[in-house]
Amino acid sequence: MKIISSPLELKEHLKNIKLSVGFVPTMGALHEGHISLIKKAKEQNEMVVVSIFLNPTQFLKGEDLEKYPKKDEADKKICSLSGVDVIFFPQTSDMYGVDEVSILAPKVRGYVLEGQSRPGHFNGVLTVVMKLLNIVNPTRAYFGKKDAQQLNLISLMVKQLFMNVEIVPVDTVREKDGLALSSRNIYLNKDERVEALKVASSLRAASAMVSKGVLNSHEIMDSMREVLAPLEIFYVEILDREFNPLLHVEIGNTVILVEVNVGTTRLLDNIWL
Ligand code: PAJ
Repeated sequence: MKIISSPLELKEHLKNIKLSVGFVPTMGALHEGHISLIKKAKEQNEMVVVSIFLNPTQFLKGEDLEKYPKKDEADKKICSLSGVDVIFFPQTSDMYGVDEVSILAPKVRGYVLEGQSRPGHFNGVLTVVMKLLNIVNPTRAYFGKKDAQQLNLISLMVKQLFMNVEIVPVDTVREKDGLALSSRNIYLNKDERVEALKVASSLRAASAMVSKGVLNSHEIMDSMREVLAPLEIFYVEILDREFNPLLHVEIGNTVILVEVNVGTTRLLDNIWL
């Protein structure tokens, strides 16, 4: 396994390789969710590149950039055991200069849901993903459905900017009790860890209602809010796969999304029906 920190060196390394390349961008502190992306990339490609880069431009002032978990050595081990061919491990100065060109998230879809509570966040995400895709030039790139809005906006960027990469969505990996894996889960204390289960419970409740034939979005969202109480709710939304509001669930075309604060930890989750 090669570890490369220079973008130009990585470009040079990949230039003459004629294999299909699967790419998994991450911010490190790897867990089973990231590993499932790597596994899928390995299944579908002859070579796998993982990037580990804690991207400062997607954190707003006062957000948790400084306390974001760093586990460089453990991450390298996980990549090596998962059969990763190359880790791209740049420094901030390798990725950003001064007076930077950047990508702007769409004015509507980039500023609802998570983009509403974190205005500008998706500009940072799209800019770094564009840079990473240009450096690696992969056949396919893998993103978790867990971050549904991120996945949606990256797919939109690739489509609207006519980029040559296939975006592959990967199912959310959960703990046995339903909590979606996230690098931020380590911030939860014991009581908060129990409270956090309400997020997955609210989505299971929604799914159960739909199975029983209740399709009215407001009815479903009201029940979800009851399950989530007394957590601070940023949003509960029922949208189609293009992220337009749905008055009624359409099976095969629906995403139900939740974002809450548990203590001071922001948790997001969703299900695709
Ligand atoms: P990060 O939070 O490290 O996540 C990297 C990838 O892992 C994302 O595509 C995310 O959706 C996916 N992921 C996280 N938890 C998951 C889970 N429980 N199941 C399945 N997939 C999961 O998302 C980012 O980094 C950054 O915004 C990035 C795209 C790397 C740009 O900086």
